[in-house]
Amino acid sequence: MNRRTTALSAAVALTAALALTGCSSSDSADSKSGPDLKVSGAFMPQPVMDMAGGFLTITNSGDAADKLTSVTSGLSDDVTIHETKNQKMQEVKSFDIPANGELKLERGGSHIMFMELKKQPKQGEKVAIELHFEKSDPIKVDLPVEAANHNPKQH
Ligand code: CU
Repeated sequence: MNRRTTALSAAVALTAALALTGCSSSDSADSKSGPDLKVSGAFMPQPVMDMAGGFLTITNSGDAADKLTSVTSGLSDDVTIHETKNQKMQEVKSFDIPANGELKLERGGSHIMFMELKKQPKQGEKVAIELHFEKSDPIKVDLPVEAANHNPKQH
């Protein structure tokens, strides 16, 4: 094999490698870039009236930020996301989930708000919800119903 053929076959191999890379990165399901979300520590304190709060942590181990944009549940047709400022809560359009960061919904802070509950879930039951994001696919989560005063930060 002379020098020219070697250079040529190297170029062919490089082109093939590029073609492969281009192919896999166009398939977003296999792509490693973008947000990579995981939910942990989810719970709902047993509601005392016909409204309830939901708390959880969303960890993003991906290299792109995402946003929590809405929450749906069979428990209520009126589910919103709230932040707490100066001890007053107000509805927000979305919560940021930073790249390589987390979004914490916790007592006294940001939370999911369920109004006009269709039933009263009791401690030990689970409430199914679905989280919707700007970029990521929806994530289904079961919120275990805890005691009305449950607060993991105090443990
Ligand atoms: Cu609220």
